[in-house]
Amino acid sequence: MTLEARRSGYDEATYARLAQDTASIMARYPQKRSALLPMLHLVQAQDGYVSRDGIAFCAEQLDITAAEVSAVATFYTQYKRHPNGTYTVGVCTNTLCAIMGGDEIFDELSEHLGVGHDETTDDGAITLERVECNAACDYAPVVMVNWEFFDNQTPRSATQLADRLQAGEAVAPTRGAASVCTFKQMSRVLAGFSDGRADEGVGAGEPTLAGLRLAREHDWTAPAGTAAGQADEQADGPDTDAGAAATQGASAVGQEQSSAERKTTTPADATGDAPDASKGKQP
Ligand code: FES
Repeated sequence: MTLEARRSGYDEATYARLAQDTASIMARYPQKRSALLPMLHLVQAQDGYVSRDGIAFCAEQLDITAAEVSAVATFYTQYKRHPNGTYTVGVCTNTLCAIMGGDEIFDELSEHLGVGHDETTDDGAITLERVECNAACDYAPVVMVNWEFFDNQTPRSATQLADRLQAGEAVAPTRGAASVCTFKQMSRVLAGFSDGRADEGVGAGEPTLAGLRLAREHDWTAPAGTAAGQADEQADGPDTDAGAAATQGASAVGQEQSSAERKTTTPADATGDAPDASKGKQP
């Protein structure tokens, strides 16, 4: 066993695999210490949390101290300092979700599962959390399972969801990918290793697109000063070349496709194996 592997606490094969992944992560950044955040996710993908071995590994790979790694790992709530469940069930209890029932959902789940915030059920299936706003307020109250959305929840639907997770059943989020992967699998994706599913499923539903629909119906345009408004002014101005260029570069205001309106893509789209112009993919 190499000295580095022995110091890290991982066996030789695990160390070699993590080191290979780390090399590809560090290659994304001009300074290797910038790779720390994805590396902490990588460690979680291996151990299910940011373990002591994982901290030592990150420090050794990045030429920083274990204290510096710990300082970062303890700052962000996505990094777990004790073994996490297979599924993180996060109940949004930020203002809007709380008003719409998020607090009741958390309390019901807590009683149903017998755990509090950041605690894991005895079977290791679920870690329950209160989470801050997930930018899905139009679907409040929202529950997330390993960062996949479950919209418009109730105490009853949330406990049913938890029961299915504990029973090992596959569950489908309201939006996004077709199924929920494990915490370790999701951690690897967050480390930057795509599972090809990031662009799967519905990006947005009617509540999210309501404003865009209204703008189109009423022919509302962006005010001057915004990027869209400036493009509109240029298109109307005396400099026809500039106007034509602006028009070419930007669709008519209100008509441009929102990223939320993208059509569902397939794994082949994600890998680029089967380009299909009809899918409306963004550049
Ligand atoms: S307050 Fe819950 S998603 Fe925004």
